[in-house]
Amino acid sequence: MYSEKVMDHFSNPRNVGEIEDASGVGTVGNAKCGDIMRMYLDIDENQVIRDCKFKTFGCGAAVATSSMATELVIGKTVQEALQVTNVAVMEALDGLPPVKVHCSLLAEEAIHAALWDYAEKNNIKIEGLKKPKEDIGDEDPVDED
Ligand code: FES
Repeated sequence: MYSEKVMDHFSNPRNVGEIEDASGVGTVGNAKCGDIMRMYLDIDENQVIRDCKFKTFGCGAAVATSSMATELVIGKTVQEALQVTNVAVMEALDGLPPVKVHCSLLAEEAIHAALWDYAEKNNIKIEGLKKPKEDIGDEDPVDED
């Protein structure tokens, strides 16, 4: 049911933890399943993501998607990190079962929330970044563009 990559990232999640004095921190939850994810970003003066860590109180798919999402955003600029959508994360994991697609949205939204926090702290605007929702439970994952 799960790809090998999903199982790998679930069993050995990368970049678990916190970043002290993070450039941006984002927390999102899904009230429907009760899962919560927090992302920490360390961003340098050139707006490049030096490090990213996460904590997830959630299901296995949420752990695997957040783990993969951290790997995908490290080394990218904040602008490039916006391209790390839930679809991109799922593709990198060789897919998720349809009932678990919503879990990957937590990872995308948590990154956006952390980027939003970074932008607010530094008084900058990240082109294309929308204010994240704290609860993504009402979102329909099929509608992602
Ligand atoms: Fe809630 Fe997976 S079931 S994030």
